[in-house]
Amino acid sequence: MKPVIYLATQNLHKIEEIKDLLGDLFDIHTVFELNLLVEIPETGNTLEENSRQKAEFIANHFHVSCLSDDSGLEVNALGGKPGVFSARYAGESKDDSANMQKLLGELYGIADRSARFVTVLTYHHQGDFYTFEGEILGQIVDTPRGEHGFGYDPIFQPHGYEKTFAEMTLAEKNQLAHRARAMQKFKQFIQTAGVLHGN
Ligand code: IMP
Repeated sequence: MKPVIYLATQNLHKIEEIKDLLGDLFDIHTVFELNLLVEIPETGNTLEENSRQKAEFIANHFHVSCLSDDSGLEVNALGGKPGVFSARYAGESKDDSANMQKLLGELYGIADRSARFVTVLTYHHQGDFYTFEGEILGQIVDTPRGEHGFGYDPIFQPHGYEKTFAEMTLAEKNQLAHRARAMQKFKQFIQTAGVLHGN
């Protein structure tokens, strides 16, 4: 029997990507099956804090093995912004298009377009918490391109590629993106550390 894991996120795009990345290692469930009526809190000052907070919240309330994801886009010319505020950059409505327009406005006329996406995953299993980080370097393009993905995907072009993330299929993005790199570390850990014995 495969070990059970709950994805500690309410973001449907992340769920789609994570399910694709995890493959058949786990019996995957989502928090929508747990009758959770509130938004999972994320009030930390860093991606690490938020990632841990999300996993702890689900672990404390439901006592299940779970995997959380906190991610952000860090733009060098903006001192690392939007970073931990990526989801709410243009306001509480978490509007992807407004977030991108705000960012592009702030970068208007600025030559340095370099940026990175970062993901911090936190895995909770039987009272222990483990974190895994992945990043990808790239640049912010001048105008949004592509229909796939979510968030800032239409304006992020990874180094060495002609397409933005939103011009890539899910399979293409999952070959190289920040979330995929963090997930690779998590999967390696699961396969080598033996934490699942007795699950
Ligand atoms: P959080 O991890 O739920 O705090 O949200 C992170 C925010 O960063 C999302 O709402 C998106 O705006 C952005 N983001 C995170 N990962 C990605 C990604 O893979 N592509 C594009 N935007 C992302």
